[in-house]
Amino acid sequence: MKKIVCVVGTRPEAIKMAPVILALKDEPWTVVRVLATAQHRHMLDQVLIFFGIEPDIDLNIMRPNQALTTLTARLLLELDDVLQAEKPDVVLAQGDTTTVMTVALACVYHRIPFGHVEAGLRTWDMQNPFPEEANRVIAGRLARWHFAPTESSRQNLLREGVAESEIIVTGNTVIDALLMTASKELELGIQLDSAKRLVLVTSHRRENFGEPFRNICRALRTLAERNTDIQILYPVHPNPNVKDVAHEMLGGCNNIILCEPLDYAPFIAAMKKSYLIISDSGGVQEEAPALGKPVLVLREETERPEAVEMGVVKLVGPNYDRIVNEAQRLLDDPVAYQAMARGISPYGDGKGAQRIVKHLKEYFFDN
Ligand code: UD1
Ligand code: UDP
Repeated sequence: MKKIVCVVGTRPEAIKMAPVILALKDEPWTVVRVLATAQHRHMLDQVLIFFGIEPDIDLNIMRPNQALTTLTARLLLELDDVLQAEKPDVVLAQGDTTTVMTVALACVYHRIPFGHVEAGLRTWDMQNPFPEEANRVIAGRLARWHFAPTESSRQNLLREGVAESEIIVTGNTVIDALLMTASKELELGIQLDSAKRLVLVTSHRRENFGEPFRNICRALRTLAERNTDIQILYPVHPNPNVKDVAHEMLGGCNNIILCEPLDYAPFIAAMKKSYLIISDSGGVQEEAPALGKPVLVLREETERPEAVEMGVVKLVGPNYDRIVNEAQRLLDDPVAYQAMARGISPYGDGKGAQRIVKHLKEYFFDN
């Protein structure tokens, strides 16, 4: 039996690793151990419960308003003990969080092959997104296999000198998770005014903390005040740098609903009900095009250029004028709206996890 440790730290990692974990658990040749660093606590648990995944090891690392260096140091110490005890044949982790970067490093020190899920995303700008570009460059440099979601992420890795044989284009497992979920009967669980168009908002990027995030809030307030026929639903990220400002600047506006982070299924329900999505989330940029929903991205750069090139996602930055003008255009101009609401997805076919499992099986048994 081959032992595979699958690591999850934050909400999006759990969503994108869930299909991989579930697919591996169906394989007779492997024992899967789920390691939750719990870099996120509540938001991670929500997802794991939804997918019926129980961690075998839980580091419970999250502290309120955690700093990056302290988080990294604490993770490395804890991972040392776990890898020593578990002695896995392979470790898998997804994305570009501090959890993933430290897991990749700990695997190198313990001489355990590390498979990077969602490999090869790049903006080539260490400050945007911060610290994710640094995290994924480091994880990518240390990985044994790169499960790249798209051809363009494969090209990024080749440009960095990664051997062709180590890159496997799989599609993004976010689409596997979405297809597993979106076909179900989904309840949002929040009373909305059905006469109003829904604008769904999420925002949490560290490079937007401070004035850029205040600009985003000002723009949302202007849109809500100018358009009484819309309702803005904003599940607020619990990071205190986001939460406190969002409530201070958007509280008390009668067509803005601020709520706690939604569980995954209700969030998919909210995306499906929405007219327009305004977000700086990576995962939302991948999911919304598959659901035919236009996204205005609150970032200057994206490592997910495919949907931008297709014209179904648009970068507006944390810029007051661009957010207000572009959102207003999509609210007022049906032709501009339809051009962005085409329901095409460049990110996968729902078989990403299957391709990752197939590759690992071949590695163990065909060599
Ligand atoms: C992290 C990732 C980011 C990812 C995002 C997904 C890093 C450096 N950042 O950002 O790449 O896009 O998750 O959401 O890896 N908190 C809670 N409850 C939770 C989760 C977070 O209260 O369930 C609060 C805590 O005060 C915590 C803070 O949010 O200290 C920040 O969490 P952290 O994981 O460091 O950063 P995020 O901003 O969540
Ligand atoms: N999501 C969720 N509830 C919410 C907001 C987002 O379940 O209230 C899901 C969303 O469907 C997507 C993922 O969380 O799959 C994105 O996570 P986040 O934006 O926190 O991180 P990022 O993708 O930017 O790393």
